[in-house]
Amino acid sequence: MEISELPAPNPVPTGYYRWEPDEDDVLICRAVREETPDVKSFVFAPRFKRQFEFVSGQFLTLEFEIEGETYHRCYTISSPPSRPDTVSITVKRVPGGPVSNWLHDYFQPGMMLKSTVPMGVFSWAGMQAPKYLFLSGGSGITPLMSMTRSAYDLALITDICFVHAARTPSDIIFHDELQFMARRNRSIKPYFTVEDNASGHGWSGYRGRMTQSMLEVICPDFLEREIFVCGPRPFMGAVKEMLEKAGLDMEQYHQESFDFDDFTEETQETITEATGDLDSDVKRYKIEFKKTDRVVYCPEDITVLEAARRAGMRLPFSCAKGLCGTCKTQIISGDVVMEHGGGIRQREIDAGKALLCCAKPTSDLVVDR
Ligand SMILES: Cc1cc2nc3c(=O)[nH]c(=O)nc-3n(C[C@H](O)[C@H](O)[C@H](O)COP(=O)(O)OP(=O)(O)OC[C@H]3O[C@@H](n4cnc5c(N)ncnc54)[C@H](O)[C@@H]3O)c2cc1C
Ligand code: FES
Repeated sequence: MEISELPAPNPVPTGYYRWEPDEDDVLICRAVREETPDVKSFVFAPRFKRQFEFVSGQFLTLEFEIEGETYHRCYTISSPPSRPDTVSITVKRVPGGPVSNWLHDYFQPGMMLKSTVPMGVFSWAGMQAPKYLFLSGGSGITPLMSMTRSAYDLALITDICFVHAARTPSDIIFHDELQFMARRNRSIKPYFTVEDNASGHGWSGYRGRMTQSMLEVICPDFLEREIFVCGPRPFMGAVKEMLEKAGLDMEQYHQESFDFDDFTEETQETITEATGDLDSDVKRYKIEFKKTDRVVYCPEDITVLEAARRAGMRLPFSCAKGLCGTCKTQIISGDVVMEHGGGIRQREIDAGKALLCCAKPTSDLVVDR
């Protein structure tokens, strides 16, 4: 057979495919990779012969149909934009979590998922800093890994000091790949710290939580660096406090959280202010939550999500900023006003859906939650 007769490799790159802001898509799983005992990466291809365009640090909001329920969850793209034929997400099992466990137990190559366009602003894109410090805990490694992989692919001589905290040595995600990249590009410097031992796994590296003295040894010039932090909320809280105390100019500090167990500080302040307003003349509307059979009263100046949380209800949300779509809900009756950040399409609004994190009632409501 002549070379010219060989079938073209599939898929054939045909140029960048920019997901239009209004265009959700369906992604096909190409591969599932085990990273650690409770972390897997899922590699997706587009349905057509196209390439993805995004910036490192952005996330996808994927839609899952599991046992008759629809869930939306955000996952950061862990692959770099420099490998545009596929996108990968890297998911850690969350005890009791419906989606992460379903992905681990049932999701396989060949299966498809609906996805929004890449979203989010936690990225070094557009920044020209000469030196970076990446600090991650657990699955918070994913956006920083995307950045590091793209620095490696593009052969950037950008000084990246990457400190990752894990529970045990066998929980270190991407350990070998980070070491490999570091051997071939000396400006990438990974360090790991673990809290406990893992059976059958010797460890002579750093131990315990990240502390200022540990950072001073690993990265003595950390105050001069652009710092990106991602991990569980308590990890980020501790790291931020440590850096503030050390005198970091917080302009150099960037963080992203994957947790939605607590409101952001900003939202919490709004709730407190709104609670203070309760005795005033502010109008209150009745909100009926149909599925959970709950009724709460929502002052007109706070969001439905905030009112529900104040009443002790636990509704899904992630960004609390109208960006990710996690809180999207059908409004069965009544009206809301909404200032969102792109997490909902006009056609969904026309179909009566709303983002509860940024929807304020203008009448009594019945909500499909
Ligand atoms: C911007 C962003 C990026 C993210 N990127 C990643 C990533 O790269 N990798 C990754 O692994 N994760 C990432 N996440 C987190 C991810 O979106 C999911 O939250 C995570 O996978 C857990 O999903 P889950 O459905 O399994 O559990 P969730 O439903 O999200 O549950 C989380 C926790 O809350 C508890 N819980 C949930 N509902 C209830 C309830 N009704 N009552 C009591 N407890 C409850 C669960 O038991 C669990 O402990 C990201 C999140 C955000 C916001
Ligand atoms: S929680 Fe992200 S859009 Fe509402």
